[in-house]
This record gives sequence, structure tokens and C-alpha cells, in this order.
Amino acid sequence: MIGGIVFLQKNSTSVIPTDELVSSNPDSTVPSNSEIPDIGSDITLTVTPEGGITLAEVATHNSRNSCWSMINGKVYDLTSWIPNHPGGEEAILSLCGVDGSAGFNGQHGTAKKPLFVLSGFMIGAQ
Ligand code: HEM
Repeated sequence: MIGGIVFLQKNSTSVIPTDELVSSNPDSTVPSNSEIPDIGSDITLTVTPEGGITLAEVATHNSRNSCWSMINGKVYDLTSWIPNHPGGEEAILSLCGVDGSAGFNGQHGTAKKPLFVLSGFMIGAQ
């Protein structure tokens, strides 16, 4: 999984160990369209990482230096993405330490590129 990002069919139950997920987007750049797999409109990111991270733990990573967010039940370390987000730093900083589902879904919904990038920062789940 290192160096790659996986999209699976809806309802897949594949489990990817957390330690293999951490480096999946090491350079935190926006991918070109050709780097994004041709996922159909009814396919969503459903990789299931290891669980057990609480919102209370996420809340302790609420700064530019360590920015975790829980989005749709999964936990993402967005620290390296803060300076690279095309929509600006503030949008990401507003998600640090909180449940960012409404913020992310409201802005990006099911758009492939943001979902693809987001998946690279996954470190665990609820
Ligand atoms: C972890 C959360 C987020 C990720 C991974 C993410 C990812 C991305 C990506 C990949 C793009 C480029 C899209 C493209 O080129 O087609 C983008 C653009 C954008 N994002 Fe986000 N985003 C996140 C959260 C947010 C939030 C919370 C907001 C606003 C509240 C936001 C606002 C925007 C805007 C306005 C743009 C367009 C910028 C432009 O074209 O100039 N994003 N984001």
C-alpha cells in the first residue's frame, strides 16, 4: 500500500493495517487527472483501516503542527496537506481536531480528486 492509494467497490471489507497507510501520500501534492484511477460514479472509497481512534484523541491534534480530522468515521492526518491545499490553508486548519465530515462533504462531496487525495492521509478509523 505504500506509495499507492486504493479505491474499492462499495461494501468491500478489505482491511489495510494502519502502518501501511501512513506514507501513501508522502509528497502531499495534488495529483494530475491521469494519476487518478478510473473509478465509476457509484464507487466510493471504502477501505477500512484499523479502528479504535476516538474523537477525543483526534481533538488533541488540533493545530498546524499536528492536524488530525475525523471525516465520515475515518481519521486523517492532514498536517502535510495544510500548505498544499488549492482551496487555502484556512479550510484545512478549520478541520484540525474536529469532525470534519460536514466541511469536507459540503465542499467536495463525491468529487474524485479531493477524495483521492484525502484517502492518502488516512491513519485509522473510529
Ligand atoms: C481534508 C480535506 C480536504 C481535501 C483533501 C481537499 C482537497 C482538495 C483538492 C485535491 C482540490 C483540488 C481539486 C481539483 O483540482 O480538481 C481542492 C480544491 C478546493 N478545496 Fe479542498 N480539500 C479539503 C477540504 C476543503 C474544505 C473544508 C474546503 C472549504 C471549506 C475546501 C475548499 C476548496 C476549494 C474552494 C477548492 C478550489 C480551489 C481553486 O480551484 O482555486 N476544501 N481541495
